[in-house]
Order: sequence, then C-alpha cells, then structure tokens
Amino acid sequence: MHSLRLRPARDEDVPAMAALEVAAFLDSPMHKAMFPQRLRIKPGVQDQLEWNMARMRKGLADPNLHYLVVLTDAPGRGEIIVGCAEWSAPAKDDYNDDDDDDDDIDGGGMRDRDGTEGVGVRRRRRSRRKSEEEQERARDLELRMARLPPFLDKSALLDANDEVMELIEKSKDAFRGQNRHRMWTLNSISVDGDYRGIGVGKMLTRWGMERADRDRTGIWIISSPLGLQLYRSLGFTQVAEGSRLGEPQYLMLKFYEPGVGAEHRNGNGNGNGNGNGGRQEDGKGIEDEKGIEDGKAAKVVAA
Ligand SMILES: CC(C)(COP(=O)(O)OP(=O)(O)OC[C@H]1O[C@@H](n2cnc3c(N)ncnc32)[C@H](O)[C@@H]1OP(=O)(O)O)[C@@H](O)C(=O)NCCC(=O)NCCS
Repeated sequence: MHSLRLRPARDEDVPAMAALEVAAFLDSPMHKAMFPQRLRIKPGVQDQLEWNMARMRKGLADPNLHYLVVLTDAPGRGEIIVGCAEWSAPAKDDYNDDDDDDDDIDGGGMRDRDGTEGVGVRRRRRSRRKSEEEQERARDLELRMARLPPFLDKSALLDANDEVMELIEKSKDAFRGQNRHRMWTLNSISVDGDYRGIGVGKMLTRWGMERADRDRTGIWIISSPLGLQLYRSLGFTQVAEGSRLGEPQYLMLKFYEPGVGAEHRNGNGNGNGNGNGGRQEDGKGIEDEKGIEDGKAAKVVAA
C-alpha cells in the first residue's frame, strides 16, 4: 500500500521530474525521433535531461503553467516523486485568437446602419490583423527554432507540430465552437514505471479537472496510447485519432458539465453517477485535498 501525496512542484523537484519524464517517454517513437542518437552530444540521455530541466525551470516561472508532483515514501529512499504533470490554464482575457470568429474586434463601432459596410470593414481589419499575427508568429517560430539545442531534431519537431495541428483541425467540430485556448489542457504526464496502475495518473489528471470545473470550462488533451485508458476512465471522450512522428495520438475532450464537478463524478466515465465521488473508486480516497494552493499536499492511499 502506498500513501500518495500531490502538491505543486517546486524548483528543487526539477531534476527528479525531468528524470521521470525522460524515463516515461524513453520508448516513445515520437521522442526517439526528436532526440535521435546521431545528434547526441552528451552520453546517454543527458542532453534530454538537461533540456527538460531547462524547460521545466522556465515553465515553473510561467503563471499560466502548473506543475504538479505526486510523492510517496519508498523503503530505504525516503520521500520520492513518482509522478508529475504539466497543465496549461486557459488563456487570459486579453488573449487574441484566430478561432474567435465571432469576436467583435472593433466593439461594434464600425457597424453601418444596415450592417453591410460594417461587416466588410470588420472582415478587412480581421484579415489584416490575421496576416500581421501570422508574420509575428513566423518570426517568433524562427526565433524559437534558432534557440533550440543542436541535439534536438528541428525538422522532426516541426513535423510533430504540424501533425498536432492536423489532429486539432480534424477535431474542430467536436469542440462545438468552443475556443480550445479558453480550456485547460494537460501538456504532459509521467508516472514512474514502478508505480503505475495505482492511481497516480488519475490524481494528476483530477487536479486539472477540478480547476476546469471551477473555471466552468472544459479540457482537451492530446493523448498517447498509454494515456487513453486513464482519460477514458475519467470520462473524457476520444474525438479524433492521428499520429505524431509514427506514434498514434488521440484528441480527448471533456466539456464542462454544470453540477457534475470532479467532486461528484463517479470517475468511470459512463455517466451513471453513483454518488460516491470521483475519488472513491477502487477504495482509494483522497484524505485531504485542501491547501494544495498553499503548498500542502493532497493525500491518497492506494492499495
Ligand atoms: C499514462 C500514465 C500517465 C498512466 O498513469 P498511471 O498512474 O498508471 O494511471 P492510473 O493508475 O491512475 O490508472 C488510470 C487508468 O489507466 C489504467 N491503466 C494503468 N496502467 C495501465 C496499463 N499498463 N494498461 C492498461 N491500462 C492501464 C488503469 O487501470 C486505470 O483505468 P481504470 O480506472 O479503468 O482501471 C502512465 O502509464 C505513464 O506515465 N505512461 C508513460 C508516459 C505517457 O504516455 N504519458 C501519457 C501522455 S498523454
């Protein structure tokens, strides 16, 4: 039996989190393509570890990103990190998004009496804004690519990016007009191979589900084959299938359902709430989930 505790990650957790993530994705075809042997500078997975650490340290300073760890006590090793996740919060209110087709970018001020000219002006403004944004994005991408380390296969990274965009495009209708930038998303989740199947992944995922409920918004996730059962069991729906650098990928979606918060879900995703709470299945109950904000840990006892 393991006592599992969840808390926000801290700077000192970064090396363990990076190691966990590298180990969790070691066999992933996608990661093999992005970090090929031929480009390695340091021995083993050292390049990847350092890259992950730098990325996580930067991420910890980003107020829109949320890093979490799950800890347990290991015999002879003391407290260890057995799982970690990175969540992205919805974009802030001043976010400008291309998908917001209904955005009234000029606040209605340009609308003519019959609406015709106003719509034309709006369209021209919108397309000018889009092309400016596209140029800015291209410049930004160029800068980001130039900053990437030499051991990362840049063309693989671009391909991976394109494939994700394809998957998102395929799923467009499933979003029912909701802007994905206004939803929560789980960027990555990794559980130590020795501690899988005991609820660590669920703890890390439920944290975001509760946040999304509080924000009255949904969640979308690009899932690996290993993540499928985890998200399904928590009530996510698979809305599209694609591949990224040879690895199958699935877009999982969960809309906000008023009155069906993470507190009330049965957690098996079949929608027939049995009223015993999402965290109680399999006899695993969170003992204390208060105080996560102020750094205290949520505890779950897993069989
Ligand atoms: C995916 C991953 C995070 C799951 O973490 P976990 O702690 O093992 O998940 P949980 O114990 O909370 O289990 C969640 C569900 O997945 C199922 N599950 C866990 N391991 C499984 C396995 N090896 N095969 C099939 N199902 C499995 C559990 O049974 C549970 O479903 P249930 O409630 O229907 O029984 C973990 O396997 C992992 O780190 N994989 C490598 C990295 C990765 O692919 N991350 C996902 C990116 S989207």
